[in-house]
Amino acid sequence: AKAGTIAIRGRLLSFDADPAVAGEAEAVRFIEDGIVVVRDGVIVEVGEGPVIVRRLDPGTPLVDHRPHLVLPGFIDPHLHLPQTQVVASYGTELMEWLAKYTFPEELRYGDSAVAGEAARFLFDTLAANGTTTAAVYCTTHPVSAEAFFREAERRNLRMIAGKVMMDRNAPEGLLDTAELGYEQTKELIAAWHGRGRLEVAITPRFAPTSSEAQLAAAAALAAEHPELPIQTHLSENDAEIAYVAEAFPWSKDYTDVYERYGLVRPRALFGHCIHLSERERRALAEKGASAIFCPTSNLFLGSGLYDLAASRALGLKTGIATDIGGGTSYSMLTTAAEGYKVLALNGQKWPAFEAFRMLTAGNAEAVGIEDKVGRLAPGLEADLVVLDSRATAPLRRRMERVETLAEELFALMILGDERTTVATYAAGRRIYDRYQAGHRPLAP
Ligand code: GUN
Ligand code: ZN
Repeated sequence: AKAGTIAIRGRLLSFDADPAVAGEAEAVRFIEDGIVVVRDGVIVEVGEGPVIVRRLDPGTPLVDHRPHLVLPGFIDPHLHLPQTQVVASYGTELMEWLAKYTFPEELRYGDSAVAGEAARFLFDTLAANGTTTAAVYCTTHPVSAEAFFREAERRNLRMIAGKVMMDRNAPEGLLDTAELGYEQTKELIAAWHGRGRLEVAITPRFAPTSSEAQLAAAAALAAEHPELPIQTHLSENDAEIAYVAEAFPWSKDYTDVYERYGLVRPRALFGHCIHLSERERRALAEKGASAIFCPTSNLFLGSGLYDLAASRALGLKTGIATDIGGGTSYSMLTTAAEGYKVLALNGQKWPAFEAFRMLTAGNAEAVGIEDKVGRLAPGLEADLVVLDSRATAPLRRRMERVETLAEELFALMILGDERTTVATYAAGRRIYDRYQAGHRPLAP
């Protein structure tokens, strides 16, 4: 066998396009008995199992996951490293939640050991949930991002993260300055951006915690690094929006603040985007930015209901994310299930094919990494998740009455969670295996 070649067999599911736009026949690629051939971490062939298995070099390791599903690894385009111990904090809306729970916790992340331990927990947990890429907020402290990147590099993961820029309206120990935020982000880019599969995101937390001088510094970073991802929060909560209107009296609306500072562009990821006007949606869409829907967070913090139909109507790309720790689940399946319910409250429908497309190729496109991951296709990185749609008694019971793939996927997304993960692969290496002792993640 060629060095570094493996073959993975299962029921392959991948999306070439958005089923809502192209139609199911064009968009859905399903092979009931398929094989993905991986060489040196990259997919080199995808096709019918019986055909490929005959041509494989003798001795090539073949992992047969049938009857389980093999999909591109899930992508989580918005979550917070320092909030794994903020999850499930009681009784507040956004602004009070930040002040009461989140900022005090984030103060701990000036300690590299604290951030490193959180990063190990986070990567183990993401792997157990089939998530292979995430876009992550660290804290203001550069050491929090450095610890994150060190651990991601050790595991050869495709990850995006940034040091938060925040120079007002938070505890002293969490504040940088316009100049420091700029310099520290620059240093992080020089040290980590493009190293292995890592990317640095320009990360002004949100308009309420940045002065205009800091937004101008973020604008300078964005102009100097036109290829970099940007991540921030937008239009999540009524009190937040009212504060932005007051703090930036010149602005037409919340989105206008980010537009003014050159932060609305391709690969700019705007978390939440719940209460946008048509003007704002249109501006985000026209400038190629992405809205990130965070359903478990929006329900938990009582923020509001994302309007997918309105985004679609104006051509605004949407991704879906956990938003740990405003969000309450690390599972992208659970996140999709809650997304379905949010849309239901808005009178909208969301077929399973569209949901699974968003968890994979759709999120890849929203983040601007669709040429790297998100589909089962030659040339893309072999980040994969293997799912058992009969992993639990409720799933097994429900599947007895399921007749189509669409029904199976819908039940899997509504009833599934980390228990449905059979295995997760990053660059062709198994990073999670449920058959390992105690169903715990494999050590890297
Ligand atoms: N807006 C600014 N910071 C945050 C955060 O940490 N979580 C959420 N959900 N919204 C924010
Ligand atoms: Zn967030």
